[in-house]
Amino acid sequence: MERIAAAKRNGKKVTVISTSPAETQRLGVWVGRRLKAGDVISLTGDMGAGKTLFTRGIAEGLGVPRGQGVRSPTFTLVHEYNKGRHPIYHIDLYRLRGKELEEVGWEEYLWGEGVTVIEAAEKIGQRLPEERLDVVLVREGVRRRRLVLVGYGRRFHLLVKALAMRGGR
Ligand SMILES: Nc1ncnc2c1ncn2[C@@H]1O[C@H](COP(=O)(O)OP(=O)(O)OP(=O)(O)O)[C@@H](O)[C@H]1O
Ligand SMILES: [Mg+2]
Repeated sequence: MERIAAAKRNGKKVTVISTSPAETQRLGVWVGRRLKAGDVISLTGDMGAGKTLFTRGIAEGLGVPRGQGVRSPTFTLVHEYNKGRHPIYHIDLYRLRGKELEEVGWEEYLWGEGVTVIEAAEKIGQRLPEERLDVVLVREGVRRRRLVLVGYGRRFHLLVKALAMRGGR
C-alpha cells in the first residue's frame, strides 16, 4: 500500500466501501460520466476485486450501450469500445511478462484520442502519466470491497474531491 501512502504527498485520496457488484459498477459510471478524451485510469488490486466490473461502469458512464459490455480483456490484452462519447481502450496487463510489454504498444494508447483504462497497472508503475486516476481495489469479504481512488493533477484532484463530498471518505 505504498502507493496509497504516497498519495498524501502528491495526490488526493478518497475511500469508498462497496457492498455489492452493482455498487462498484455504479461508482464506475459516476467516474465515467466525468471523463474526457486522453484521461488515464489505472486499476490495481486483488483478483476478482472488481476491476473489470468497475471498467464496465466507466464504459456505461461514457455512453457505451449496455449490449456492448466490457468483458475481461485478459486474453486479448486490449479491447476498444467506440460507441461512447470517447473511444475506450481497456488494457489488461495481468498476464504480461516484461518483454512482451514493449510489443503491446500500450504507450500509444495513453496519447490517443480515447480514455485509457489499465488493469494490473502496477506492471508499468512509474511509466504511467503523471496526471491520472489510480483506483486500488481491495477484497475485504465475499461482497465487500474497499476502493481507494487517488487523483493526480488538478482535474483528478477535483474529481476525487467531488466524490468525497458525495459521501466517500
Ligand atoms: N462489491 C463488489 N464489487 C465488485 N465485485 C464484486 C463485489 N462483490 C462481489 N463481487 C464479484 O467479484 C467479481 C469481480 O470480478 P471482476 O472480473 O470485475 O474482477 P477483476 O478485479 O477484474 O478480476 P481479475 O483480476 O480476474 O481481472 C465478480 O464476480 C463480482 O460479482
Ligand atoms: Mg479483470
